Amino acid sequence: MKKNTGTRRRYEYLLGDARREAARLRAQAKLWDPVSRLLFDRLEVRRGWKVLEIGPGQGSLHMDLRRRVGGAVDAVERSPAFSARLAKVSPRDGLGVGRIWETDLMDAPLPKAWYDLIFARWVFLFLPDPGRHLRKLVRALKPGGVLAIQDYHRETFALVPRPQEWTDFLAADYAFFASQGGDGSIGGRLPELYRKVGLRMEETVATIKTGHPGSPVWNWLSNYFLGLMDRYADFPPFTRRQAARLRKHWLSASREKTSLMIAPAVLDVVGRKPR
Ligand SMILES: C[S@@+](CC[C@H](N)C(=O)[O-])C[C@H]1O[C@@H](n2cnc3c(N)ncnc32)[C@H](O)[C@@H]1O
Repeated sequence: MKKNTGTRRRYEYLLGDARREAARLRAQAKLWDPVSRLLFDRLEVRRGWKVLEIGPGQGSLHMDLRRRVGGAVDAVERSPAFSARLAKVSPRDGLGVGRIWETDLMDAPLPKAWYDLIFARWVFLFLPDPGRHLRKLVRALKPGGVLAIQDYHRETFALVPRPQEWTDFLAADYAFFASQGGDGSIGGRLPELYRKVGLRMEETVATIKTGHPGSPVWNWLSNYFLGLMDRYADFPPFTRRQAARLRKHWLSASREKTSLMIAPAVLDVVGRKPR
């Protein structure tokens, strides 16, 4: 297993792999795995396919992909904690041992023209230079192979009633991802990026979830954003005072049953490498 020893500016993954983040990912997966499974159904993932998953995290979809192909699935996962867990848990289904590259995607020694499917959910929004990462994945796809990415198109994100601080909060959210070269709303840019690296676009499908206080959607977004609110206060024009006011507004909206959260859209973006 190779670690990143390159001379490039060191990329830091913004959310880490602490136990709290692992638990958050598991809860989030419960809400969103059905959407990913529908994508896998549409892709008609079949027995015998060679599949690579980028950034599987807690691995719920990794296990699903293994079941569908009836064998091992490869992974690139930079977190030592998450990749160790994947290595331990995934072979328990008796379907074999996949290759796990515990490294940044950019440094993974992927085979050439090998995969029928490469899949990534909520990884590309963190990555600097997504075009370079995509070119790497296209090289690893077989001719006729498919790249399927699920990622955010954040422009739909809203809290109703709308707090006064919302515009500056959204700017801080954008700046948070940009601080490591990422784009929190990468989903909408993917079709154009796919074309630039020679993929033929096959589909773009959006899922927008909404929820009132107490719903899984409300809890999912509140848990994530209230957890990050203090870090967001480091990104002007959002300020510490605004962060405190927004937190207060958010918590009081949580007690009002007519409040509504409209989540960032998740886009499924599928492209095929020409034969
Ligand atoms: C938000 S989590 C999503 C996890 C999982 N895909 C899911 O949908 O629940 C992002 C994952 O990508 C991994 N990751 C982030 N940057 C990466 C990189 N450059 N190379 C490989 N993995 C990366 C993180 O360690 C984490 O497991």
